[in-house]
Amino acid sequence: MSFDLVLFGGTGDLAWRKLMPALFQAFRHGTLPPDGRIIGIARDDLSDAQYRELIRSRFHDVELAKRPSPEEFDRFAELLHFLRLDLSHPEDFRRLADTLRERHADTVVMYLATAPDLFLRVVEQLAGAGLNTPNTRIVLEKPLGHDLASNRQINDAVRAVLSERQIFRIDHYLGKPAVQNLFAMRFGNALFEPVWRREHISNIQITIAEDLGAEKRGAFYDKTGALRDMVQNHALQLLCALAMEPPINAHADAIRDEKLKVLRSLSPWTPVSLDQHVVRGQYTAGMVHGHPARAYREEPGVSPESNTETFVALRTDIQNWRWAGVPFYIRTGKRLASREAQIVVNFRETPHAIFHAPPGSCNRLVINLQPRDGLQLHLLALGQENRRNGQVLTPVHLDLDFDKRFGSERVGAYERLLLDVIAGRLNLFVRSDEQEAAWRWVEPIMEHWANDERGPRPYAAGTWGPSASSAMIARDGFCWPEEC
Ligand code: BG6
Repeated sequence: MSFDLVLFGGTGDLAWRKLMPALFQAFRHGTLPPDGRIIGIARDDLSDAQYRELIRSRFHDVELAKRPSPEEFDRFAELLHFLRLDLSHPEDFRRLADTLRERHADTVVMYLATAPDLFLRVVEQLAGAGLNTPNTRIVLEKPLGHDLASNRQINDAVRAVLSERQIFRIDHYLGKPAVQNLFAMRFGNALFEPVWRREHISNIQITIAEDLGAEKRGAFYDKTGALRDMVQNHALQLLCALAMEPPINAHADAIRDEKLKVLRSLSPWTPVSLDQHVVRGQYTAGMVHGHPARAYREEPGVSPESNTETFVALRTDIQNWRWAGVPFYIRTGKRLASREAQIVVNFRETPHAIFHAPPGSCNRLVINLQPRDGLQLHLLALGQENRRNGQVLTPVHLDLDFDKRFGSERVGAYERLLLDVIAGRLNLFVRSDEQEAAWRWVEPIMEHWANDERGPRPYAAGTWGPSASSAMIARDGFCWPEEC
């Protein structure tokens, strides 16, 4: 099968940080169809040779095991091409059409790795140049829009020129091996499903913590913030994977239908819940892993008076029979104490205690997404130290490390998703109604913050966010994993 992958934003951050390394891994693993071209698009004036050298130099930042040898890169580079294109020039799109017509590839992928406010223009120009052919697929990076109205505007514009099965809305968290294993754990095993409900689970906590700050994306991030950047998409997709009903099969729409039901069941915000169940924070200067880190407001591209949140913690409830009364907590932030993405499923206490157990030591299933990928099941057992008093339980855990079990050379998130786009598999992509439901749910938070003069709560870089985040969960009688 032949393909052309047209990469808008071909010299941008995402292209060299995530996409090129992922494409190279697929090339190295022999999973990228060999008859392909990767056409980088940007306004720069580069020849193919110069583009290849640029990409080669960027691979120095990639971890050693994933870096190509010079010979490997030379072979990979044969796939790379460059086309200078100005998004406001229709004739440049006609040149792109000519380039694509040279080969008539079976599949043409248009990957929009540009700033989201350019999506509309690109889509219009593509259609104007007749590039919305039946073998075209378009990949839209998140965040798609900055609120419900702009999201709809983009979705409407794309659907006017391409059909839904040609549209791949990417959320790279769905491509992470750990997230796919969450689906496998829930729907490939009989063990968990019977206890996966309100009768047995007391609360669920989702943490996506980053130790990095705004980095080189200050200008973008300052317009976006953690709610739009992480909660509206990644965190809610994780919540859906945890809370959805078993789909009738593994096809894209069966999965997406169930996720949509979860999003539609999230409890609507009220003035009280907005005040008590949502915490926004912004990092100030501090120490991260022993190194000084500057305040968010001092990051390049960020306004010195910025009120953009770099941290969000919130509680929500799912209004259905399975989950009524079970709080779901979401927490994400930049410049936190460590890089860690983790889901903790806390089970209820035994209904009747015949042993003594340390306080708060209930069963717990911990799903680690990163930095390592695995499962830990926390149980209670009678250990050696209880020789004198055989009635006291000790916390123990079963530990499954997927990297050790399956090797750390597993297919990475972007690699998986890029191969899926080329193959036309939509399972791990987000449908427009899911996105709209997610925007509809986060919008009241955005409005509440816009009218709240208090601004985000400060937290020192290198900590776990503002103390209000711990206070919020403590009010319900629970604690975040590092505090329990
Ligand atoms: C991206 C966000 O979607 O996800 C970034 O825009 C964030 O701000 C990144 O750093 C986190 O992804 P990962 O895979 O490193 O956890």
